[in-house]
Parts: sequence; structure tokens; C-alpha cells
Amino acid sequence: MKAQALPPFPDCPAPAAARASNPAAREAQAIERLAALALDLAGLAIRPAKYPMLQARLTRRQRALGLPDLASYAAHLGRPEGRAEQGAFLGAVTTHVSAFFREPRQFDRFGSELLPHLIRRARSGRKVRLWSAGGAAGQEAQTLAMLVLTAMPDAATLDIRILTSDIDPAMTGLAQELSVTPAAAAAIPPPYRQRFVRPATDGSLRLSESLRPLLQFTTHDLHAPWPTPGPFDAIFCRNVLIYFALDHQERLCTRFAAALRPGGWLCLGHAEAPGTGASAALTSQGDRIWSKPEGVATTPARPIWERSA
Ligand SMILES: C[S@@+](CC[C@H](N)C(=O)[O-])C[C@H]1O[C@@H](n2cnc3c(N)ncnc32)[C@H](O)[C@@H]1O
Repeated sequence: MKAQALPPFPDCPAPAAARASNPAAREAQAIERLAALALDLAGLAIRPAKYPMLQARLTRRQRALGLPDLASYAAHLGRPEGRAEQGAFLGAVTTHVSAFFREPRQFDRFGSELLPHLIRRARSGRKVRLWSAGGAAGQEAQTLAMLVLTAMPDAATLDIRILTSDIDPAMTGLAQELSVTPAAAAAIPPPYRQRFVRPATDGSLRLSESLRPLLQFTTHDLHAPWPTPGPFDAIFCRNVLIYFALDHQERLCTRFAAALRPGGWLCLGHAEAPGTGASAALTSQGDRIWSKPEGVATTPARPIWERSA
């Protein structure tokens, strides 16, 4: 009698042939491939506990493209014609939660401790550069712009730029619209809300156009060369590092530290820290703020357009 094949033990990976022929195993294999692709494309570390979330989000993309299953979706992403889907793929696997004046302590301290120096800097004709890196739909940069414009009503006439960048082009689009939902507007402290939130002609809410001259928007992967030369007076990269593999977090913070102007600030999220490499070049100021001491070298960051292949 022919021996009957036993089902694979749940914790053991099934042999490749069995995995490919069994639909559930094929799906599980596809999720692993897609998680590996997220790591490869954007440094995102997706733990197996998050695979059900990954599966639910990507199944929506797979169906939108009319593909039969996630294995076909993974294969599609790997083909040249699937490149256009990579933005939507990363958009689906990342979390875009943000809010105006989120984690307000850092904004309070920015306004009272760093901004007075930046005002003096700008008024003496020097550049001021702020960066919200992984800034979702622009709420962080727009909050900074509200603080800057309130403290310095003529800021638009000075050399001050606040960059917001995100890997997801849909986020860049939303940021550029200066749109604000009623719920998001409610989170803006009243004096800023009264001054900067306006009803648009279609009845929706928009931030005041007075903020626009200060803002720059770009779609950018933080693991790529910087989108703008810097150096930066403050980099806000909050609630982004937690999604990255540890070595990517370390490398990124070392690059942030190098790109800060002496005296500049790195602001991270409440569960994030710069790691050992960057910590040596930065001084903790509490509240997840690190400053770059005077006298520590700043590496001029090369803009994307100067990147050699
Ligand atoms: C949870 S949101 C944080 C938004 C904002 N910094 C805050 O704290 O409110 C994380 C953002 O990081 C972006 N992101 C993830 N990986 C990225 C990468 N490799 N490069 C740039 N942005 C990335 C996501 O698209 C998402 O909008």
C-alpha cells in the first residue's frame, strides 16, 4: 500500500512544491514575499503578527487590479509593468495616522526654545530649514508653519522653508491641498484654528493659503538621498522609525544627525530613540528631542538630482 503523505506540521515550512499547490500555503508564501518586498523597498519591518493586516489591505489592492490572488499580486509587483503599483503597495502597508499639534510638548518647546533663535537667524538674512520626514498628509509641517507665521508674520518674505516628505504620493497630494477635516480642525488649538482654518468654496475646510509660501512638499523614501540639501535647523521624524528594521533606524538617525546644523533639533516619536551611532553626535534634551552640539560637523546633504547612479 502506498504511504499517505502527512500534512505538514503547522510550524514547519512546507516543501516548496506542496506550498505552491496548496492555496492556503500559496497565500501564506505570498504574504511572506510581500513583507520581504516592503523591507526591500522601504525598510519596513513587518512582523508575522501583522500578516493578517497585511493580507486584508493587500487583498483590496489585488482585487482592484483584477488579479486572482495575492501570489499573482506579488508576481505583478516584481514585473516591470508592476512598478506603477509600488506606490499604492507601500501606501497600503504603511500607517498614515497623524494630527495637527500631535505630541504637543515638542511643539511647545520648539516655539519657546528653538524658534526665537531661528527668528534671529532668518532676520539676519540666513536660511532656516525645517523638515517633517515621513510627515503623512503634512499635519506636522503645517503645524510648524502655523507656529512660525504666528511668531513671525513676515516669515514668507524671509528664507524659511518647511519641507514635508512622505513615501506615499497620495499623502503628498493631500498635503499640497492644505485640506483639513472637521475632526482634524478640532484638534488645532483655538487661536491657531481661528487664524488658519478657512471654509473653502465647496464647503470643506482648508488651511489658510498664507502658510503655502513656507511649505514644500515632496514624495521621498527616507532611505534614499535627501530630497533637499539642508543643513536642517530641525528634523521632525516622529512615529516613522518604529516601522523600520533596527539597522535602518540606526543608519537613518546617523544621517539625520549629520544633516543637522549645530544647535539643530531631531524630534522623534514617543517610542523612538536615535540608537547608539547617532546618540554619540546628539545630546538628549528630554521629551524625545535631541540637539546637535555646537562644534559637531555637519555633512552637506546631496540633493536627489546630484545622486550618481
Ligand atoms: C504614522 S505616520 C507618522 C506621521 C507623522 N510623522 C506624525 O507623527 O504624525 C508614518 C508615515 O511614515 C511614512 N513612511 C513610511 N515609510 C517611509 C519611508 N521609507 N520613507 C518616507 N516615509 C515613510 C508613511 O507613509 C506614513 O505616512
